[in-house]
Amino acid sequence: MVIKKLPQIGDPILRKRAKNLTFRDLRDPRTKRIIKDLIDTMRERGLVGIAAPQLGESVRIFVVEVRPTKVRKLELEPLRIFINPRINWKSKQTVVDYEGCGSVLNGKIFGPVRRHKSIVIEYDDIEGGRHKLKATGNLSIIVQHEYDHLNGILFTDKLTDNKKILDYDHYLKMRKDYHKSQRK
Ligand code: CO
Repeated sequence: MVIKKLPQIGDPILRKRAKNLTFRDLRDPRTKRIIKDLIDTMRERGLVGIAAPQLGESVRIFVVEVRPTKVRKLELEPLRIFINPRINWKSKQTVVDYEGCGSVLNGKIFGPVRRHKSIVIEYDDIEGGRHKLKATGNLSIIVQHEYDHLNGILFTDKLTDNKKILDYDHYLKMRKDYHKSQRK
């Protein structure tokens, strides 16, 4: 089911620390439903990631997928489902890039955030198997953003420069100008 209205910044659910899922939770059909709702809602809204608290479910699950769109210049990423994730390594090197969020003015506001360039994350799959993934580039940034949601943190908490906040139209224009300059 596609969730039409995501909780927005100011809603206490976004500030709660989400709960780990037990082995029994993983077998609960409700968990499968949350995952399906996350995937459907992410795709319908054109997001590159979404975390369970954004559907009002305070559990440690998020999904990530980068599909091609007209305006997106990100590297494509397959669908990945992260359950009980833990980031256990972060690069010292950091990068600053613009982010938005479906739970902050419905994804219509963007600002610069500093993130670790690379991370290693461990997570469960729905069968309870543990996986380890090293992420760099866009995937690393998206994963850190979604992971923060599980700890009640929003990207607006981490802006490097409030004066660089942009609305949707100015953000698109900036991206377009940037890519134009890259082609020269
Ligand atoms: Co978000």
